[in-house]
Amino acid sequence: MAFGAHMRATVAGSATLLIFLLLLAGAYRTGTGLSGIHPQSGTATAATLPAPADGSSLFAANCAGCHGPKAQGGVGPKLAGLVKPWTQMQFEHAVLDGKAPEGRTLAPMMPHFRSAGFDGSPPTDAQLRALAQYLQSL
Ligand code: HEC
Repeated sequence: MAFGAHMRATVAGSATLLIFLLLLAGAYRTGTGLSGIHPQSGTATAATLPAPADGSSLFAANCAGCHGPKAQGGVGPKLAGLVKPWTQMQFEHAVLDGKAPEGRTLAPMMPHFRSAGFDGSPPTDAQLRALAQYLQSL
């Protein structure tokens, strides 16, 4: 008798678990189904278009390792404040070709991003503007 009651409890428990899993699977499928019905919805579009240039993440990915997470300096010099008065052209000359505004050739440790690229792709104008704006805001 006690054994039978235990068995019923176990069977009821398994059934509850199964129903729970089916509900989860259903919710998951409904989720994908909805985005399939609305391919133009915000989330679907954001996944397919290139992300807008974000100066802060570009800096974190390409520069922070040498210039410090907030451009306060590391093995590379402090950039916060330094590049604030620079024109976009001066900034790009330094970043793309390793030339400081006063005409000095930067030490070879500072990459020439025209050839090094950001994550393997040549830097775009939008990325260079976003990066300059971010650094000039620090
Ligand atoms: C591998 C290390 C390294 C990385 C990565 C790096 N830099 Fe540099 N950077 C340096 C060093 C070292 C110098 C100093 C060179 C000198 O003064 O001769 C420098 C100099 C500079 C200067 C000129 C500063 C001055 O004194 O005029 C700028 C601007 C600059 N870096 C911007 C950047 C930006 C923006 C990035 C990312 C896109 C970046 N750097 C990535 C090492 C690095």
